[in-house]
Amino acid sequence: MKRMYESASDAETRAIGAAIGALLQPPKMLILTGDLGAGKTTLVKGLVAALEAGDEDAVTSPTFTLVHSYEGWQDGQPVQVMHLDLYRLESERQLATLGLTDLMADDALVLMEWGEKFASVVEMADGVIQIEHLSEDRRRITLEISGLEIPGQKIV
Ligand SMILES: Nc1ncnc2c1ncn2[C@@H]1O[C@H](COP(=O)(O)OP(=O)(O)O)[C@@H](O)[C@H]1O
Ligand SMILES: [Mg+2]
Repeated sequence: MKRMYESASDAETRAIGAAIGALLQPPKMLILTGDLGAGKTTLVKGLVAALEAGDEDAVTSPTFTLVHSYEGWQDGQPVQVMHLDLYRLESERQLATLGLTDLMADDALVLMEWGEKFASVVEMADGVIQIEHLSEDRRRITLEISGLEIPGQKIV
């Protein structure tokens, strides 16, 4: 399924992140695409806050640590948000040391900035959140995911 959103502010992108978080049935792995400053990390902040997995200000770019993990709740069920940024990773060999398949717990929502750099990640991912930087504060955000959406339920 495919869903498109428009954002005119940082706050709107956070709200879209929250809405996307509510739609996803774990386990899911999604690639976040978009230029530097497009709003990938901002969207994750909104998603993490909505799942009560952490304070928005606690969500920072995992550029140096590669992986940040947050424990939260979705409809009374525990959910683990894993936020990765692969910008600085250069090879599939380096990527292998992250043990991506081990991150995919049953209750995990894995969000990977710059995941499209690696064929193995593209193959593993359930879908993409694409953020297009339209103008200073405007963004087009497209969620495209292989799962099925049943009205009123989550994307499985
Ligand atoms: N509509 C918008 N959506 C998201 N971020 C926005 C928007 N308008 C302005 N911004 C600003 O753009 C920057 C996005 O940064 P960030 O989320 O770290 O980007 P990325 O992770 O894609 O590199 C933030 O400073 C944010 O406040
Ligand atoms: Mg970022």
